[in-house]
Amino acid sequence: MTTKSLFNLPQLAGLCSVTAACQTATWSVEESVRRWKRLHYCLQQACLSITARIPAEPIYELKLIYSHHAYLLSELVTAIRKRVSEMREPPLGLDKIPHAALERLMSDTAGMNSRLAFLTSIYEVILPSVQEACQQLASEAHPIADAPSVRIAKLIAFELDDVINVGRSTIQALQAAFAEHRRDSQTGSTAQSNLSDLGDNSLDLAAWSKHLQACLAAAGGLTGKPSSTATDEVTAPAIDEPIPGPYPVGTRFEYCNKPQRDQRFQDSYNAGVNPEAFLYDQRFSAQDKTLMMYYKRIREIDVPETIAAILTELTDKPWDFYREMLRQLWDEARHAMMGEIGFASQGIDWTKIPINFTWSLNLNTQLTPQERHGVLFFIEQGLMTRTGKRYEWEVGLQSHDSLSALFQDFDWADEVLHAQIGQRWYVTQFKSIKEALAYGDGCWSRVMSHWHEYRDNGLTEHHNWWPELYRQACERWGKQPDPAALEFNENYSNSRADLKSL
Ligand SMILES: [Fe+2]
Ligand SMILES: [Fe+2]
Repeated sequence: MTTKSLFNLPQLAGLCSVTAACQTATWSVEESVRRWKRLHYCLQQACLSITARIPAEPIYELKLIYSHHAYLLSELVTAIRKRVSEMREPPLGLDKIPHAALERLMSDTAGMNSRLAFLTSIYEVILPSVQEACQQLASEAHPIADAPSVRIAKLIAFELDDVINVGRSTIQALQAAFAEHRRDSQTGSTAQSNLSDLGDNSLDLAAWSKHLQACLAAAGGLTGKPSSTATDEVTAPAIDEPIPGPYPVGTRFEYCNKPQRDQRFQDSYNAGVNPEAFLYDQRFSAQDKTLMMYYKRIREIDVPETIAAILTELTDKPWDFYREMLRQLWDEARHAMMGEIGFASQGIDWTKIPINFTWSLNLNTQLTPQERHGVLFFIEQGLMTRTGKRYEWEVGLQSHDSLSALFQDFDWADEVLHAQIGQRWYVTQFKSIKEALAYGDGCWSRVMSHWHEYRDNGLTEHHNWWPELYRQACERWGKQPDPAALEFNENYSNSRADLKSL
């Protein structure tokens, strides 16, 4: 038998040698599907549990990390679903819980109140286990017969590397902050001004980690037993490895759609400046308008808060709905970062500017998830007109602020994608786009802005922060402020962000 290639060229498309391909004889479609289903379940649950934390997570950096990782995990989940569907599987059975102990692991993680314990579970236990199982799958699957699985397993393991590293850095940073706080309280110093954002640290992490490991052990690890010995695992768990009971009550995470912001966000109810009114006013220069566009971008951190609430509360949609909406959620977090970067590039401290959060607050607390989606689509469809995203990009170009032009260029492209996502998942529920838009517009009109109530209840004075920001920028630009721009004083008391009167 010849196992040598012609001219010593790579054999078997370079995947492995013929000799190696002869040796892997224990793999089957059934085994491949079985393993993928376990990984699918854990990644999907991790993705959804991270999403559910986005609205009420006060720390901005964590909101961004959660937004990114929820999106990435949704892409990995989708890759697995596609692979499973290629292996004689329909009906896919991807909604079936693969093992009761994995269910315990994922539901206790999703229900964990302590942030540090939740992060530990996701980034120190679950995702590293998935990564290891993918590496194992990539080396155990038949390199030719199951080459598509090998490819995805390698891609998932590769992509999880960065996710796990960022997660671990997050845990380390929080632990260092807790340690610093302990030192401060021992020495009587009160240096920790962001203490309330740190949250509770009383949970015994060692005991929690032990519980998670016990769940994994009861499931036979993430990979579990090979299919040749497998029975119906949900109804017949392994007798020698009992499934741990639920982690003690009193530590339950309660999902909350009311957005929270960390201590750096000042005066979040402030709706004393209407940036759209400035942006569409012909009197003002493109350069001055870049400030309002950076403000509009960073303010978009409220969109992940609203989309996360839609996704967590709408539980009956096909997976592709969650996948596409998580891409949109991540894009909106990127848009917020564009604002953060834009202000940094101008030497402006964004924490001095009131970043309003009443859009996500009012939508999340006054509307159903379906109604919120209607408002979101109505707004995003409105950005597709000549005076929408294209206009913002043109302003960016005219301003000679290359960062603004770059960001608005990609922001526009993202919003076109979002309008298409809305067409697929929202408009299709109506007879026509006209009806879909009217519904969204109507829902938005019903939202009480509470502009006066927030002021009357002492939550804000709707202070006009614009002149201060504008003067600061002009100083850096080395130019005299435009008196008309400096005098700008329009707020949201009587209008919405699309300038429609209330
Ligand atoms: Fe956006
Ligand atoms: Fe968008």
